Parts: sequence; structure tokens; C-alpha cells
Amino acid sequence: MINKQLPLVDLHRHLDGNIAPKSVWELAQKHNIELPGNSLEEFTPHAQIQGQTSDLLAFLEKLDYGVSVLADFDAVYRVAYENVADAKAQQLDYTELRFSPHYMAMAFNLDMTELVNVVADAVAAGSRDFGVKTNLIGILSRTFGTETCMKELDAILAHKDKVIALDLAGDELNFPATQFVDHFKKARDAGLQITVHAGEAAGPESIWDAINLLGATRIGHGVAAIKDMKLMDYLVENTISIESCPTSNYQTATISDIRQHPLRTFFDHGVNVFLNTDDPAVSNIDILNEYKVAQEILGFNSEELSQIQRNGVKAAFLSDTEKQALF
Ligand code: ADE
Ligand code: ZN
Repeated sequence: MINKQLPLVDLHRHLDGNIAPKSVWELAQKHNIELPGNSLEEFTPHAQIQGQTSDLLAFLEKLDYGVSVLADFDAVYRVAYENVADAKAQQLDYTELRFSPHYMAMAFNLDMTELVNVVADAVAAGSRDFGVKTNLIGILSRTFGTETCMKELDAILAHKDKVIALDLAGDELNFPATQFVDHFKKARDAGLQITVHAGEAAGPESIWDAINLLGATRIGHGVAAIKDMKLMDYLVENTISIESCPTSNYQTATISDIRQHPLRTFFDHGVNVFLNTDDPAVSNIDILNEYKVAQEILGFNSEELSQIQRNGVKAAFLSDTEKQALF
């Protein structure tokens, strides 16, 4: 299913949505933090999505357990390092790991700027130790409002040489892109590339805003683009890629049935779409699972799946030379 002759990448992968239940449980024991259940076995189902949630916000609540145990920088280092071990276990050749400094720091009021530094150190060490190429994407968690996001941005920009891009994640419906124009101008001026969660909980206008107001060259999820043919054409003509995460889209109830996922329509229309996991530990999936969904449920053949792998490389926030080196 995976073409081993081609690089396997995952560019939409939340480090803070990929904390293994075992690590959450162990860190909770160490720091005397209460979790549901009396054992790892009892806790694990609480930390993973079962079937489908009612909406995006219900899905995102599941990520709260992971960040609730980040009691100190050792814990932050551990979960960031383990993310690279997990990328290796999932056979990834290259991954862009994204994280929200505020979300990771908030339970124990850790210093956000230092947190960015610790995550970057841990991921660099993991990258060396496990032989997986990585880059980091900083996230502004829109759910916490514009002021917190500005502080979060400053923490990210304090280490802008260690972060390749900026993303906007969280509650898309209640915190539209229009509120974050200044943040993204500042990030672009500092040389960061831009990807934005859009068209997941809101409609196609949210994707237009991500592109026109925030400068996104990649769109996270982008499911709602299916409703706007002009937008689909625009994505093709301007090589704006869609980071597709089918299982996540089902679990957040962005689509009601996995068979209705627009991956096929995007692909056939010529959009540079590719497969990603989003929050693998919370969704209880790996990247191979997403290729399996594309093949077995959405009817992609081997050559089409290979093209999806190539689309991922094309969309990566890497120089042409770095992309070549992946092959
Ligand atoms: N943070 C983690 N996963 C997310 C998603 N699917 N949408 C928005 N924010 C997120
Ligand atoms: Zn995401």
C-alpha cells in the first residue's frame, strides 16, 4: 500500500495530540495528577476517541488529558522526544510536528518561551537518535483568544530559527481568521511559512480567509472546499495544498460517513492533497491507517497512493534540495 521507493511524510501531526496514554498515565503517577480509571488499561479508553464525537470541540477535549500532565520541562521533553520515536515506528521519513506553546504550558503555568526551546531540543535529539527528519510548526490556539495568541506568537518568534511555520488551530467556528490578521502578518514578516486549520468546522469562506487574510499556502483539513468550485480551482491554480486527515474528519463529525470524504474529489480535481494523521494517539491511528482508508474505502489504487505520497513531499516546508534528499 505504501510505496517504499518513495518518501513517507506526515505534515499535519499535533505533537500535543500525540502523547501516548502510557506516558500520560506514568507522568500523572509521578506528579500525583488524577486521571479517570484505576489503571492504564482503564484510563486508555478515556484518552482515545471511540467512534465519532458530536463535534470538533468534543474531539479536542480528549487532548486535554495529555497536556494536563505536563508538570515540568522534563515532562515536556519526554513527550516531544517520544513523538519522534513514534514517527520512526510509523515508518515516516519526514514529519512536521506542530504544537501550541500555550496549550502545553497552561496546566502548570510553565514559561512558554522556554517551553518552545525544550520542545525544539527534544525533537532535535529525537531526530538524531531515530534518524527521522523533522521540522516544527508553532500553533496559535485560537480558542484562547487574540491576546493569549499574541503572547503565544511571541514565544514562538523568540525561537523562530527552530520553527518553520505558523498554524492556527482550535475553535474555528467561534474564532475566525479575521481576528488573527495582525498575528499572521507578524509571523510572515519574521519569515515563517503559513498553514491554517480551515474548512473543518466552518465553511469555504474560512478557507478563503486563511488564504487571503492570513497568507496560508497550505490548508489543514479543507473539507469545506468541496462546496465551492471556484475555491477548488483557486487551490489548483495557486498550488495551495490540502493536508487531509480522513479519520480525524470522521471522528470530529466534520463528515458523517467516512465514505463521503472529499479526498477523491480533491485528488481528481488536481488539488495537491495528501494524507496525514492529525492527532494519532487520541485518534488511535497511525499514518498507514490513513492510506488504508484511502485504498479500501475511498478506492485509491497503488499509483494514486504513490501520487499522494509525492504530493506530501511537494507540500513539505522544505527547500527543493531537502526534498530531493528524501528520495
Ligand atoms: N488541534 C488538534 N487537532 C485539531 C483539529 N482537528 N482541529 C483544530 N484544532 C486541533
Ligand atoms: Zn490539526
